[in-house]
Amino acid sequence: MDSEHLRSYYDKTFQKTLKSTSGQVECSASLLEWVRSNSPLWQRHGPMFVIELGCGPKSILEELRFSENSQCFGVDFSGIMIDHARSHTSSGVFYECLDALEIDTHPILQGLNFDLVVDGHLFHCLTDERMREKYLSLVMQKLKVKQGFFILECMVETDTLTFADDFLFLEDSRVLLQQIGNEAIPVRYIPRAETVIEQIEKNGFKIIKFLCPPGWKIISDARRVEPIQGDPGLARFLLTPLL
Ligand SMILES: C[S@@+](CC[C@H](N)C(=O)[O-])C[C@H]1O[C@@H](n2cnc3c(N)ncnc32)[C@H](O)[C@@H]1O
Repeated sequence: MDSEHLRSYYDKTFQKTLKSTSGQVECSASLLEWVRSNSPLWQRHGPMFVIELGCGPKSILEELRFSENSQCFGVDFSGIMIDHARSHTSSGVFYECLDALEIDTHPILQGLNFDLVVDGHLFHCLTDERMREKYLSLVMQKLKVKQGFFILECMVETDTLTFADDFLFLEDSRVLLQQIGNEAIPVRYIPRAETVIEQIEKNGFKIIKFLCPPGWKIISDARRVEPIQGDPGLARFLLTPLL
């Protein structure tokens, strides 16, 4: 599936969310809490360059404070989400509509190195192995000069997975497909935690923290707001480039 097609899937999903929430959107409470809990790491840091990849309609960076003169970016490839974020921000986060797989070549970000990269639940949307490899290698490129941090929260299989009837989980590739009309859209990558650890280490990251407590769940179906037993587990990582 090409990036245009996927972008349109995310645009449409957000349009539906907007209708059901009367325009009110919040960033992920879980991701915000995970980033906040690591904030002592940069408390005494000078001005920082920070970016959230896949920030959706409201970046968690809106809710965080960094030292004066820091620059915060929220990027997403959904134009509708970025327009919403731009028109509702009051915090000085720069929102840019771009594909996270182009952060090395995009004119706005080219040449910038980051102290902190937050994965806005984007990694588990990359259902193609080569894209995940490229993503991790680009994040590494953006962090290594400053020895920055990468914060990642993603879906993993911890218990038996169950999905609504319009979903199909492909065990081999660990990809979750959603049937929409006559199309099967690859919406999520749900590996076991050991596989993510291998991918992360292969790409030169050191794992500073890894949490995957039993019972933690992340909702796999955007139509629900409460998790259920058959939802994927939640893995949290704090990473930095290996020296
Ligand atoms: C699961 S949503 C998470 C949104 C929000 N950060 C949150 O945690 O609630 C993933 C987001 O990543 C965006 N996304 C997916 N693939 C992307 C890509 N290749 N480049 C940029 N954004 C992407 C989607 O448009 C969507 O907003």
